[in-house]
Amino acid sequence: MDVITVINERASVRGFKKKPVPRELIEQLLDAARKAPSASNQQPWNFVVVKGEIKEKLADDILSAHRKLSKHYDPSKGKTIPRLYMDRTKKLLIGIRPYLKKMDKQVVPFIEEGSCVFYGAPVLIVVTLDKSHPKSKLVDMGCAVENIVLAAQEKGLGTCIIALILMFEKLIREHLAIPDSMDIVVGIALGYPDGELPVNAFRAPKEELSEMTRWMGFK
Ligand SMILES: Cc1cc2nc3c(=O)[nH]c(=O)nc-3n(C[C@H](O)[C@H](O)[C@H](O)COP(=O)(O)O)c2cc1C
Repeated sequence: MDVITVINERASVRGFKKKPVPRELIEQLLDAARKAPSASNQQPWNFVVVKGEIKEKLADDILSAHRKLSKHYDPSKGKTIPRLYMDRTKKLLIGIRPYLKKMDKQVVPFIEEGSCVFYGAPVLIVVTLDKSHPKSKLVDMGCAVENIVLAAQEKGLGTCIIALILMFEKLIREHLAIPDSMDIVVGIALGYPDGELPVNAFRAPKEELSEMTRWMGFK
């Protein structure tokens, strides 16, 4: 499959089959990640790949902590984000609603609790970065994460990048023995998509190129 087709077909997956993902397949995704471009070729990424009991216990503890906290996730981290961008989130939440209604689920609890348990994915990849790196290294991290996500799509696997779990960073550190010297960048839920689940048929709306691009020196 050519890369543009893979990009066009990828969408976040929020429900997975129990079918295990062979380690060799995960290695192929990580191999794609390690070949990503990075500033000065520093390859600053590190990955913790988790399955089985360790993953289940982590999910249980994050979910319990989330329920106890009873605080909603704020991806803007308290910053005031221009309306233009917030409206895109609104469109996302409105768009996904009818799909979740078919599953008798409400949007916010489904997304928040689902994220806490990695949407039931059999594998969680936690991406980390040594804290000594400058913030600009997050571009490198994004390149590596996107390679994983696209390689997964090409292999018939599904992913959901999950940042909500960073609310419970301490728990992740404890369960996965991630030292304080490392930042936890994001988690990636990985598995075979459950094609029967209505939410997996949802496609997030994407703005037109003209909304985000200025052409200079072109006709
Ligand atoms: C950095 C990052 C963090 C994300 N965190 C979450 C999350 O915590 N929970 C979730 O359900 N989706 C999460 N997503 C998935 C986005 O909601 C999704 O990419 C967006 O709505 C566009 O949909 P698409 O991936 O299907 O194109 C995250 C995506 C990114 C890139």
